[in-house]
Amino acid sequence: MTIRILCVCLGNTCRSPMAEGVLAAMARDRGLSLEIDSAGLGPWHVGKPPQPLGVAVAARRGYDTSGQRSRMVTAEDFTGFDLILAMDRANVAGLEARRPAGATARVRLFDPQGRDIPDPWEGTEADYEHVMDMVEAAARALLDDLARA
Ligand code: 4NP
Repeated sequence: MTIRILCVCLGNTCRSPMAEGVLAAMARDRGLSLEIDSAGLGPWHVGKPPQPLGVAVAARRGYDTSGQRSRMVTAEDFTGFDLILAMDRANVAGLEARRPAGATARVRLFDPQGRDIPDPWEGTEADYEHVMDMVEAAARALLDDLARA
């Protein structure tokens, strides 16, 4: 069975594109059947590629996020995905506020250990590296959980 996972942050330009890239690569390496996408709660970056610093940090660790384009979360996402994973608690609240009647997706924090992944928007390369460290650790824990389930 393919598990469908949507990674969500505010802009779908910094954190969730990194999460999508890392999760897709790790799932592939582990032979897990996952469908991964990402989306944002705000409209500012729709149609654009992820932030260049994030793309560069991801590329250095072997993840290609350059082909991704920002999109907003839609009502259909709440039935089209099994899991919607938010980068921080504010994103969880934003998703709950948009949850339509008949939604079937479970909304959770991306990090199974409950840490908020900080927004690196307008931050330095070191901020993006820190986000990537957290995203990789959270993705490993998440895939461990999914493999056990
Ligand atoms: P993200 O970061 O949620 O990790 O993509 C942000 C990107 C852009 C904005 C906010 C957060 N913005 O206000 O444009």
